[in-house]
Amino acid sequence: MSKILIVYASDYGNTEKMAGAIAEGVKLVPDVEVSVKKAEDVSADDMTASDGIIFGSPVHMGSMDWRVKKLIDTVCSGLWMQDLAVGKVAGVFATGSGFGGTGGGAELTMLSMLNNIAELGMIIVPLPKNTHGYAKGGLQWGAYGRTGDENLNPVGVSDDALSVARLHGVHIARVTKALKDASVFKA
Ligand SMILES: Cc1cc2nc3c(=O)[nH]c(=O)nc-3n(C[C@H](O)[C@H](O)[C@H](O)COP(=O)(O)O)c2cc1C
Repeated sequence: MSKILIVYASDYGNTEKMAGAIAEGVKLVPDVEVSVKKAEDVSADDMTASDGIIFGSPVHMGSMDWRVKKLIDTVCSGLWMQDLAVGKVAGVFATGSGFGGTGGGAELTMLSMLNNIAELGMIIVPLPKNTHGYAKGGLQWGAYGRTGDENLNPVGVSDDALSVARLHGVHIARVTKALKDASVFKA
């Protein structure tokens, strides 16, 4: 059995909804278990017990939410000291109101999480361009839900974005399971 942990921060429920959709996708893959936790509730044991970890954040002031960064700077940095996250699979997702034509910081939010994930020695699974619905729910770094319209009115995560999030979950779960089955990182 492979285990995937989805960690996220959310104030208004949008990123939480994306986390739920990713979990639905993970559950479609046989022999993969999923748990979903808020960043502030995640322990080092939660992480070491997982074969794959998917990090999600709302875009805040153009970059990742402080609770996700706190998790990385506290719990994850402890894992880094002992190489305990090395070889685990990872992916990212985000939501943002997206004011302006270039996304309002969505890329930087995902890239900053990916940068930390790379530092941990994790194996990054991006979002392949041939994912069904890709153009409406993500970019190469991961699933992304735009939650604001062009006047900054909150419109919530679209069904298209949730559908891409589900497929992101499927894809990460498959890679996690394949690596676990191959026992690549076992001594
Ligand atoms: C303090 C704060 C700063 C934000 N900054 C940005 C931003 O820079 N770019 C953006 O696209 N959205 C920004 N947003 C909007 C949120 O990213 C967006 O509403 C997101 O979907 C909220 O996720 P949640 O419902 O999970 O809390 C900001 C929201 C808050 C509360």
